[in-house]
Formats: sequence, structure tokens, C-alpha cells
Amino acid sequence: MSEKKSISVCFTADQFDKYADEKSIVVVVDLLRATTVISTAFMQGVKEIIPVQTLEDALAYKGKEGYIVAAERNAKPIDGFDYGNSPFHYINSDVDGKTLVLTTTNGTKAINNAKNHKVITASYINLDAVATYLIREYKDIIILCSGWKGVFNLEDPIFAGSLSTLLLSSGKYSSVCDSLFASTQLLKNAGDNLFDYLSESSHRRRLKSLNMEEDTRFCLSPPLKSDIIPILKGDRLVVL
Ligand code: MLT
Repeated sequence: MSEKKSISVCFTADQFDKYADEKSIVVVVDLLRATTVISTAFMQGVKEIIPVQTLEDALAYKGKEGYIVAAERNAKPIDGFDYGNSPFHYINSDVDGKTLVLTTTNGTKAINNAKNHKVITASYINLDAVATYLIREYKDIIILCSGWKGVFNLEDPIFAGSLSTLLLSSGKYSSVCDSLFASTQLLKNAGDNLFDYLSESSHRRRLKSLNMEEDTRFCLSPPLKSDIIPILKGDRLVVL
């Protein structure tokens, strides 16, 4: 059997420079909610997504033919933008064939922090397709959890545990990364009810306080599955 490739898990967007090696494939996850929104928007026919860091950068595209601008800060939609960061904004919407310009508190920052690498985005919507793709590519992998403003959150590492478990079971990967072991342990502890397991977690509580619990349920247990893998080409995510 040939040499195994490595997988590591980075717990926050701000720690990414400790993991960066410019050769690994980086899988960005912001389960609640940015990378779930990205999967949903592509399923609804968005042509490409430009992840930008600031509200001003996004607003520069406002009103341009074929562009939609979307934003949240602290999970709240922002006045003046076409959409917020809820997957429900995109279902049955008019996004087909459009370019979505998106800025979020952590997810779009994580994507930009990793842009010197090959970057794809993942959620429970495209988990199986992402795992199949990575196993086929057979490269070192960094799973980049977006976290929350530089600190650890619970939901992204749990997703990293799901993805790592699939990759390790292929027999083509190994890991010496404690964050990966912690992620797989968290997943085991969580069992099969992520919604309950996350009841005390900060972002589940934040979304609950904003009456967005249906978003949480959607992201943790999406009613849709997709084979679409968003990949960063230049400044935009396109369908692989
Ligand atoms: C983020 O990027 O931090 C988020 O996706 C927050 C959210 O809108 O729930």
C-alpha cells in the first residue's frame, strides 16, 4: 500500500497560519451557517460566489446586472443587502444564473485566509461528495473550522469529525493531529442528535435568540443532498 496522506483539523480561521503549507487541500467548514448556505445557493443555480471580507467590498457589487449581495454580522441580516445568511433565503429564490457576493462574520474570512491553497467548502449537504472527491485526489488535507471571531466553536469540529471519519475509513489517510482526534471524539459523544447535543453551544443559542432555530435544524440535518463541490478559483467559488 502506498504512503498514507495526512489530515489535520484547524479549529479557528485565525489559527490557519499555523497549519498553512500551500500544498494541502483546505476544506473550509462553517456549518452554522455560511458553508451550508454556499451549498444551498449552488443547488439553487447560483453561477459563482464571491466571498468577501467586508460589507463595503460586498456593497460595491450592489445593483450590478447579474449580481446579488448578501451579508450577515453576528448572524443578523444587514439593511441594504439583497439577502442574509439563511439557507431559506436561497430556496425557491431568483438566484439561478447569478453571481452571489457574500460576506459573513467568520465563514468568508476562513475562505479568504486559505486562498493560497486549493480551497473547497463543505457542509452536511455535500459531505459524501466532498469525501469521495478527497479520497480520489489523495492529497494532504487541512479541515479549516471557521470558529467564531477567533475562538473555538462546537459545531465545526463535529463536522470535521464526520469528514475525518469517512476519510480515515478509506485507509488512505492517517493523522497525528490532536484537533482531529478531539473532533472525532466530539462526534462520538454527540451521538445521532446533533441538535440536542449542541443545545448549550454559543451559536445554537445565538440563532435561537434570533428566532432562527429552523436554520440550525436545516444545517445540522439538511433535507437536501448535493454532489456539488464549491472550489475557489481566483476570487470566487465555482462548481468543481
Ligand atoms: C459566520 O460566518 O460566522 C456565520 O455563518 C454566522 C451565521 O450567519 O450564522
